[in-house]
Amino acid sequence: MDKIVIEGGVPLNGEVSISGSKNAVLPIIASSIMFDDPQNEISNVPDLEDIKTIKKLLSSLGAKIEDSRENNRIFIDSSGINNYEAPYDLVKTMRASVLVLGPLLARYKRARVSLPGGCAIGARPIDFHLNALKLMGAEINVDHGYVEAFAERLKGASITFPIPTVTGTENIIMAACLADGNTEIRNAAMEPEVDDLINALNGGGGDIKRDGHGRILIKGVKQLKRLSHSVIPDRIEAGTFMVASAITRGDITINDINVAHLKPVTEKLSGTGVKIVINSPTSLRIKGSKVIRSIDVTTAPYPDFPTDMQAQMMALMCVSEGLCVITENVFENRFMHVGELIRLGADIKVKNNFAIVKGVKKLSGAEVMATDLRASASLVLAGLASSDGYTTVSRIYHLDRGYEGMENKLKNLGAIITRVKGNSTVNQAHEEIHEENITAGEGV
Ligand code: EPU
Repeated sequence: MDKIVIEGGVPLNGEVSISGSKNAVLPIIASSIMFDDPQNEISNVPDLEDIKTIKKLLSSLGAKIEDSRENNRIFIDSSGINNYEAPYDLVKTMRASVLVLGPLLARYKRARVSLPGGCAIGARPIDFHLNALKLMGAEINVDHGYVEAFAERLKGASITFPIPTVTGTENIIMAACLADGNTEIRNAAMEPEVDDLINALNGGGGDIKRDGHGRILIKGVKQLKRLSHSVIPDRIEAGTFMVASAITRGDITINDINVAHLKPVTEKLSGTGVKIVINSPTSLRIKGSKVIRSIDVTTAPYPDFPTDMQAQMMALMCVSEGLCVITENVFENRFMHVGELIRLGADIKVKNNFAIVKGVKKLSGAEVMATDLRASASLVLAGLASSDGYTTVSRIYHLDRGYEGMENKLKNLGAIITRVKGNSTVNQAHEEIHEENITAGEGV
């Protein structure tokens, strides 16, 4: 298994370009199941492990997918779908596989999707998805670890989610798109990724409106024609690079973003003392400050602070001046990175869904293990801030699920970071890093 080795303490400087959003593109790829055209086209698709997984899933259903690196486009022909099952092997590697449930049911009247089971950040059931589909007339049975769903014709319904669910909202939007009549979703997720799905569906003949207060209205249509959509930038990748600048006291310009989507993150980070300059609606510059102020963070659904940025923000708070409380309100078990940050010298205590972080003067390199995608990002960030020794982050496959070429992007900003392939040793990486430094130094 690959590892990442970092020699920290270097301020990051320069420009970085942000890739397409993982959590936007996954439902959009799933939605291609419902489009009749053989040339559905999605651009700005990031090159990630999760994208490989959803492509594999669609291929196993009978879709044909072609890649074109020009504009990072993919073409999908879903007209040959002749299998309706998302098997355990794929769902267990990526929970978002459950996003084929709504489209399969709407277009092909049936679906068999493995239950995802628990994961590293919480139980994450899909009961809200299933209850909503039942309200739309679907017959749902759960048997042998699989959800089996049938509906001769889905009917529009009035659905209120107990709490906003991102993939639940997306599944129901897709199912309702081809249902008879109108569907209203109340307490729907307001994340930009949901809006991106709505725009993609509307662009191909869907009739979906959001009223701005967590209410989404979907008029069922007979047919969706051609999917042709460019995916929004990844706000979580952008936020992660913003923290990279803050934690290394660097100066990074972040391009190809949607500044408006980043508001909850820019507002929070501003409170820590960093200087943020908005260059344009698609670019900002963030300059770290010598003193990082402690600031409390509470996660909640959009437009509040994203749970997907909690671990990265915690890494930053580890080197702040003072004490803060980080409250995780979305997932019940999203503090797995705490023990690893403590290995790097952080002072953190966890009580229920609160983490009390007392800033320390410095972090020092150590071997740590990634437990999930955003935890991996926080450990890389903490490694970049560790001012003595090497940090080795193992189980880096989590990072590859959701960050496109992260270590290369960091390297271009001046980070001393290298990937150790499965069979090479960490000592070889230390030597490599050392040699790279000497070579870099020779040029100065
Ligand atoms: N929930 C239920 N029942 C359901 C659905 C959700 O109890 O049927 C609970 C969850 O257990 C959780 C809360 O509702 O406590 C919200 O979960 P949500 O359904 O919104 O999460 P998700 O749709 O499974 C997506 C993202 C996650 C992101 C969350 C929250 C995708 C593919 N995944 O997950 O992204 O953390 O929304 O914003 O869009 C990541 O990218 O690292 C990641 C985990």
